[in-house]
Amino acid sequence: MPSLPPLNPDLADREAWSHYWAGVPLASGGCLPGLPRPAAAALESLWATFFRALPPGARVLDLGTGAGAVPRFASTLRKDLKLLGVDYVKDLTLGVPNLEFVGGVAMEALPFADAQFDAVTSQFSIEYAKEPAPSELLRVLKPDAAWMVVAHHSRSVILEQNRRRLAALDDLCGAAGLLETAGGLADRPHVPLAEARQALRPLIGTLQQRHPGQGIVTDAASFVLGVLGHPLVMDELRRVQGEMGMEQLRLRALLRAALDDEAVQALATKLSRSNHPALVDAVPAPGTGLPLAWSLRSR
Ligand SMILES: C[S@@+](CC[C@H](N)C(=O)[O-])C[C@H]1O[C@@H](n2cnc3c(N)ncnc32)[C@H](O)[C@@H]1O
Repeated sequence: MPSLPPLNPDLADREAWSHYWAGVPLASGGCLPGLPRPAAAALESLWATFFRALPPGARVLDLGTGAGAVPRFASTLRKDLKLLGVDYVKDLTLGVPNLEFVGGVAMEALPFADAQFDAVTSQFSIEYAKEPAPSELLRVLKPDAAWMVVAHHSRSVILEQNRRRLAALDDLCGAAGLLETAGGLADRPHVPLAEARQALRPLIGTLQQRHPGQGIVTDAASFVLGVLGHPLVMDELRRVQGEMGMEQLRLRALLRAALDDEAVQALATKLSRSNHPALVDAVPAPGTGLPLAWSLRSR
């Protein structure tokens, strides 16, 4: 068969994020649209405490703003704040009244003079960036001004779920995975459709057993079984493999970015100022016994 194109290993994480934000409704709640309500409320409660304590008219910079989850929430609490979101993804239209967005901005080189902001925030963002993102955060902050970072925790519920999803995606997209196997069958048009579908069933059963509860396996199975008779079957398989490849890139970036105990202390050290050591806490995921995230803050 004309084999499905291999994933481009050099594709930058930035492209994976651009692709992601192009495909989700921007008002959907950010990078974790499926976050259970109690977990989302736990994050909101941290942000509410932070934003309520800011001085009137404070100028707030949100790093790696994505769909603007943090400034969107801030604007519901405080109309007086002057919110600016930046992200290395361009072309995001966030539609929040008191939020200005500047795309194409890397956290490692913020295009702002020193000591411009009354507060800096980052949610699930700065841990993805390289040096010198933490010192850039401190550089643009006014002396003694507040900052807060919510970062991925390597043992969080979010990481647990996404590790399992990535394992399922890897199995679906691997060399002997469901998409390749379906591609091989589609490339043999003399095989009757019913026979081709039947040939896929044992593999689907194995994948379902190996990845219990992973909706992506069920979705991929219905997709390949349905697409086999389609005149543009190879194009469709390539399209879906491309989509899954983007998600694999994004999830691998998440796994690399998440902070263990040592990494969070290292970030805290970088974010500490002489008179303000950074405060670090594990935020519990309600009702799970697992962490949800790290919070790091100036006070
Ligand atoms: C997990 S999303 C978080 C988005 C948003 N803060 C939220 O809570 O929903 C991470 C965001 O950081 C951005 N990002 C990652 N690395 C970056 C960097 N080095 N400079 C600027 N933005 C970056 C990505 O484009 C993405 O929008």
